[in-house]
Amino acid sequence: MSTANDIGGTGKTGGTAAPWRAVVLTIFPDMFPGVLGQSLVGRALADGVWTLDAIDIRDFAFDRHRSVDDVPFGGGPGMVMKPEIVDAALAAAIAKAPANAPVLYLSPRGPRFDQERARALAASPGVVLLCGRFEGVDQRVLDKREVAELSLGDFVLSGGEPAAHCVLDACVRLLPGVLGAAESLGEESFEDGLLEYPQYTRPASWDGRDVPSVLTSGHHANVKAWRRAQAEKITAERRPDLWAKRQAQTQH
Ligand SMILES: C[S@@+](CC[C@H](N)C(=O)[O-])C[C@H]1O[C@@H](n2cnc3c(N)ncnc32)[C@H](O)[C@@H]1O
Repeated sequence: MSTANDIGGTGKTGGTAAPWRAVVLTIFPDMFPGVLGQSLVGRALADGVWTLDAIDIRDFAFDRHRSVDDVPFGGGPGMVMKPEIVDAALAAAIAKAPANAPVLYLSPRGPRFDQERARALAASPGVVLLCGRFEGVDQRVLDKREVAELSLGDFVLSGGEPAAHCVLDACVRLLPGVLGAAESLGEESFEDGLLEYPQYTRPASWDGRDVPSVLTSGHHANVKAWRRAQAEKITAERRPDLWAKRQAQTQH
């Protein structure tokens, strides 16, 4: 029985570092790598900086229809993913993933994914992501395997796969060597607890609008100070929660 779809990554990084390993459990393995096969993150996959295995949960079903779901106890709409099938799929995923890789169920009930969590995951040897469908997964398998939950935000997706794409994209671009100097992390949103300053490119005047003159002054210290002031202003205006957190951190 083929249980895993080894989608990408040669396992060779060109250096001595082991690749970061993502293992995704899904009933739609063809959704992977999907968008993760494109651009920077796709190049890093092709170069073996990270690897991706999509495990088809249906491979662990035992009836001829390959069913993975059943009606909820207690009634109500929809279907629930069966514990014994998800458990067997999780066992295969954990065996495939590096030791100590976090095992996460993408779920609107989890703590919200953010840049801090992306940094923590990127610093781990890899991750196992369980994508739910239907009304979700039987609670007993989550309890048995002590699976932590992770939410993309306060909305309901029809499945965990788009959330897995987002989580993996955010993690992979933090791996060493994925971003070149031209796309450096240094001043991105959430680095240093701030949103990013406004960006401008040529032409210097467009549609009756000029770029702020400081940006064409050639005075690097003034540019830096202007960008910092803009980042602080935007963060304070748009995200009082982030601003308060940053204020608290910088006062200590
Ligand atoms: C239709 S949803 C189930 C929603 C669930 N019945 C509820 O009300 O919380 C199906 C699957 O999509 C995924 N999902 C939905 N919203 C999500 C979110 N905000 N973040 C991460 N995963 C999500 C989960 O894996 C979930 O099991």
